[in-house]
Amino acid sequence: KLSKTEILAHKNAEAELGGGQKRIDAQHKKGKLTARERIALLMDEGSFEEIGKFVMHRTRDFGMDKEHYLGDGVVTGYGTVDGRLVYVFAQDFTVFGGALSETHAEKICKLMDLALQNGAPLIGLNDSGGARIQEGVLSLAGYADIFYRNTRASGVIPQLSAIMGPCAGGAVYSPAITDFIFMVENTSYMFVTGPNVVKTVTHESVTAEELGGASTHSTKSGVTHFSCANELACIQSLKQLLSYIPQNCEDEPPMLAYEPSDESRAGLNTIIPDNPNQPYDMREVIDELVDTGSFMEVHKNFAENIVVGFARIGGRSVGIVGNQPAVLAGVLDINASTKAARFVRFCDCFNVPLLVLEDVPGFLPGTDQEWNGIITNGAKLLFAFCEATVPRVTVITRKAYGGAYDVMNSKHIGADMNYAWPSAEIAVMGASGAAEIIFKREIAEAEDPQSKLQEKVLDYTEKFANPYRAAHRGYIDEVIMPDQTRQKLIRAFKMLENKVATMPKKKHGNIPL
Ligand code: COA
Repeated sequence: KLSKTEILAHKNAEAELGGGQKRIDAQHKKGKLTARERIALLMDEGSFEEIGKFVMHRTRDFGMDKEHYLGDGVVTGYGTVDGRLVYVFAQDFTVFGGALSETHAEKICKLMDLALQNGAPLIGLNDSGGARIQEGVLSLAGYADIFYRNTRASGVIPQLSAIMGPCAGGAVYSPAITDFIFMVENTSYMFVTGPNVVKTVTHESVTAEELGGASTHSTKSGVTHFSCANELACIQSLKQLLSYIPQNCEDEPPMLAYEPSDESRAGLNTIIPDNPNQPYDMREVIDELVDTGSFMEVHKNFAENIVVGFARIGGRSVGIVGNQPAVLAGVLDINASTKAARFVRFCDCFNVPLLVLEDVPGFLPGTDQEWNGIITNGAKLLFAFCEATVPRVTVITRKAYGGAYDVMNSKHIGADMNYAWPSAEIAVMGASGAAEIIFKREIAEAEDPQSKLQEKVLDYTEKFANPYRAAHRGYIDEVIMPDQTRQKLIRAFKMLENKVATMPKKKHGNIPL
């Protein structure tokens, strides 16, 4: 007969084995880690405290009363990452394929309630065959209980989702509501309906990877914010992201110690090409401005005409939004607008100051854009900036044309400090387009229309293709040399660190969705 101590030790060992060694081996064979191995990589050593280790499902149908695994396919608990409290759940694919049952969902909900009440990030490591088929509506109810909590926690605590295996059907909507999704290349996929259903309904033949793998969702749909080479890289990215953000909406992002030194960045003085139509890479500007190597790009391969991500400037965490002249000349289109809008809103929820680097020739023209709603989608970015109350600084490096000038964190919509480089062109449109329109008749009637056009273009360029009209009005606070920019930013963000701004009392705004 086993002693009480032995019984406990046995139960612990049984729970830790999940669905058994054979299934653990199968998991490893697929290049995947187990739920417990993932948690061990994520958390500070020895810090993980498990909750609900012996929970079992209550189903009796389909012979389920004879098949029980302690923990019921999900490991939940809390611990620390770099010394800071986080809550984590990791689905265990070795137990019923990580499928979600009533009790599995209850464990996740209990954890979510703790995370929300105690104000710390929630991390979900997803690896699941979806709703536990033997449980029917109980499992659907479990998903809904999770979605409801995800939504209530949105904007209160950061919620991060890693997809490390299948995530299909209703299961996708919990990650979709969370703040950031990380996917592991080649071993994870997300879709609402799988390849078989797609084949039946639309007659398309597509693999799971093509339909919803990491590369698809990081380039085509934008569903995932990060595409990670493997599970280790995924967990490292999760940790890195946590380092830029606060524990909850009432907390401030962690500030790193910073020793001031020579902040001038001479390289920036030569980064803008003489020819305004020649591209350059905004990432190079970012790298010069931020603390060395601190830029973590979000949505790197999606809507590349805008660059967004976290970085540090003088030890301070900031969210950066930059037009990317190297892709589509940096125009705003539907995807760029929604990508940046969501990022701006995240930063605003969680007290991360915003830096906007602007070089934008306007919105992308065309039927594709208009028919797919560039009006509504472009408005999302405008709305997101207008409602943001965090410190907001803009640097216009080159073009700031048309409505896009207003949208990109202009003074008029609440930016705190607006800088421009001498190369800035703040105007309704580029000089040649402008001259063609306003001097149309004069040009047509001229003896030599071509040289008349040239003359008018020069005229317009002189008047408007510079930052000074805007600076005269105070729309630009200061025209600065590029090499001074980092110093200006360090000081401006410090000056703004106690900013208090509130929105009018309301239930919530009605962002154009
Ligand atoms: N409910 C209950 N058990 C499930 C399950 C689910 N939704 N999904 C998988 N499982 C079980 C399998 O029966 C299998 O059990 P076993 O280890 O006792 O044999 C185990 O999980 C592993 O599944 P398997 O199919 O062998 O793994 P795979 O890697 O080949 O395929 C999936 C993974 C997710 C593609 C496949 O299991 C699947 O299609 N599952 C159903 C998905 C679904 O339709 N979900 C419901 C709608 S949300």
